[in-house]
Parts: sequence; C-alpha cells; structure tokens
Amino acid sequence: MKNKPLLTKEAIKRLINEVASMGGMWIRLTGGEPTLNPDWEEITKYIIKKGMAPMLYSNGNFYKRENTLKKILKYNWGEFRVTIAGSKQTHESLRIARTGIVNYDEVIKTIKTLSQNRVNLKVNYTLLKNNLCDVKKMIFEIKKISIETKNKIVFHIGPLRPFGIPKGIESLLPTAEDFFILSKLIHEIQGKLRKYLEVDYDFNLFDKQHKREIAPKMFNGDCCGVGKLALAVNCFGEIQICGIMGSNFYVPGIINMIKKEEKIFGKLGINKKNIFDYSNVIKDKFKDIWFKSKQFDFFSKYEKLQCKSCKNYLKNCKGMCPAMALYYSGNMRYGDKSCFKHLM
Ligand SMILES: C[S@@+](CC[C@H](N)C(=O)[O-])C[C@H]1O[C@@H](n2cnc3c(N)ncnc32)[C@H](O)[C@@H]1O
Ligand code: SF4
Ligand code: SF4
Repeated sequence: MKNKPLLTKEAIKRLINEVASMGGMWIRLTGGEPTLNPDWEEITKYIIKKGMAPMLYSNGNFYKRENTLKKILKYNWGEFRVTIAGSKQTHESLRIARTGIVNYDEVIKTIKTLSQNRVNLKVNYTLLKNNLCDVKKMIFEIKKISIETKNKIVFHIGPLRPFGIPKGIESLLPTAEDFFILSKLIHEIQGKLRKYLEVDYDFNLFDKQHKREIAPKMFNGDCCGVGKLALAVNCFGEIQICGIMGSNFYVPGIINMIKKEEKIFGKLGINKKNIFDYSNVIKDKFKDIWFKSKQFDFFSKYEKLQCKSCKNYLKNCKGMCPAMALYYSGNMRYGDKSCFKHLM
C-alpha cells in the first residue's frame, strides 16, 4: 500500500474533465474526511466550473475549523451529507476519527448552520444493531431542526456493511429482523413528518404506499447504480465497483466467484484475467474504463439469482445488495441475509 502513488490534484482534475466531457452529472467527494484535504475547495470549484454538481460526505466536525464551514456555505452543493450515528452517547462511542472523537454537539451545530443556510442537506445515519433504538429519536431531532430553519433535510439510513470496519464490529451488522423492525417504524412515522423532513433508506423492501421509486427505470430498476450509472475511485485511482467494498475484500472475492462459475461468466466474456483490466484512472482513460472494462461491465450483466423468482423484485424491492451477498456467501448473485421477505 505504501508504494502505491496517490491521486494528485492534477490527476483528479483530469478525471473531472473526462467525466464532464462524457456528460457526467455529479462528483462526490468522500474519505476519510474530505474537508481535511487542503485541495477540497479547489476541486469543488473545478467540478462546478465543469458544469457538474459537487457532493460531499463529511463527519460534520468543524470545531476550530469555522473558516472551512464558512467556505462550504459558499457553494451550491448537489448534496452535502453529514454523518450521525445515534444519540450523543452512541454517536460518540462509535464515531472515532483519526483526529479524535467526533463531538455530537459540534455535528448538530453544523447541521443547524448548513440548514439555516439552505444547503441541500442529507443526514447520513449508519445503522448498526446498537443504534437501532436511537433512530426514532434522531429522526425527530433532525425534524425539529428542519422545521426551525424551514429547510428540507433528508434523513438517510444506510446499514453498516462489513467492509473497511474494525475486527469484531461485524457482530453489530443489522440483521433481517432489524431491517424489518426499522421498516415498520419508518412507515409508522412517515405520516408524522412534516414537509421539511424526508426519510430515505438504503435497504431493500419498500412499502407500496410509500410510493418511492425503487431504482432508476433506465436500468430496469435493478441494482444500486454501481457499475451502471456510477463508479467509485479510491485515493490510489483504483476503480471500486462499489464505494463501500474495499479492494482488500472484493478483489479476491470476485476472482474466486468467477473461477467457480467459469461457464456463466465465460459466456459473458468475463474471466479472472480481464475482470481487472482498465482499473486505474491514473493510467487508464475514464472512457475506456466506462466502456471497455469488464470490471464495470460485470454489474450490468450478472443476475440476482436470489431475487429472480421473488414477486417483490423490481416491484417493491430493488433486490439484494451484491456486496452483502459476496460477504455472506462468496457469490454476488445470492445470499444477502438482510432480505426480510420471510418476515412479511
Ligand atoms: C466513509 S464515511 C466518510 C466521510 C466522512 N468522513 C463521514 O464521516 O461521513 C461516509 C459514510 O459512510 C458510512 N460508512 C463508513 N463505513 C461504512 C460501512 N462499512 N458500511 C456502511 N456505511 C459506512 C459512514 O458512516 C459515513 O456516513
Ligand atoms: S428476494 Fe430479493 S427482491 Fe425479494 S425481497 Fe429479498 S432482496 Fe427483495
Ligand atoms: S453493492 Fe450494495 S453496498 Fe455497494 S452500492 Fe450497491 S447496494 Fe450499496
């Protein structure tokens, strides 16, 4: 890892140019904490200059960095996300960054400031077993801010995925039962939300009455968009099919799966050698990655076997998460244990 060259600012700008020339709409900066990167503002300006919307994921801690927060307020964000991990106690026990504990009160202060300044704001709630109990309280806490500031805030709930997390924390992965409880809770409180707050979530089954578009129609509603309308690039310029899966796990995982199912993938022209061709934006053209790479192509061609015969599929469920399936069963096509169909 130490010998790999990092993406330079120039390489990032080159990538932005390429994405813009191909009609890209958004670029999302994440990390680590992207606002600690001295180039975040220059990169943001460059994204805007190229006609795209910048997005950013932040831990929301601007203690003694009020100047950075002021600068943030100058830009028209396609989306600005701030992470919260539960009520004060849970948040501070879970959110430990390299720079120290991410202070809950500071995060709430940031959310208020952003909302007062009409930033297009999403609060990212990463769901773990031990913060499920805080969800309702936190939704209403954020609702209060949205009403006070008369600004719409989206409360986004995304489950913890078993990638890039410290050993032992796997026991905190939410189960199908947890998702089921949460899904019922959201539908119950949906009616109690006012126009300023919206609850959005990343897991699978939706209630029809919620009438949420389950996934982009242009891709038949399937998948989460990765490998179809978006891709992720890490700090070394390497392509990651899904931004959540770190390369440590997904490279051997995918190769193993392709080896086991050689016949199926052979028919699709995908094999363990070509799957990782065109995979670094430092050396490869973005256009080649998008159009020629098998790695990217892979997602549009594989099938979700787990969901194929399920009556919810593409009607009120976008299908299982390929990353979770790979983690649980070693195959991206089935085995996502967070599916709660059997509990309905
Ligand atoms: C990786 S963080 C980086 C950006 C920023 N520093 C922050 O704290 O939000 C982006 C978001 O991904 C979430 N996240 C991190 N690891 C995750 C995992 N293994 N599964 C699901 N979400 C995760 C975080 O909770 C956070 O909301
Ligand atoms: S089997 Fe697939 S489509 Fe059906 S509910 Fe589960 S995840 Fe959704
Ligand atoms: S593969 Fe799973 S974790 Fe990755 S972006 Fe899609 S739904 Fe999210």
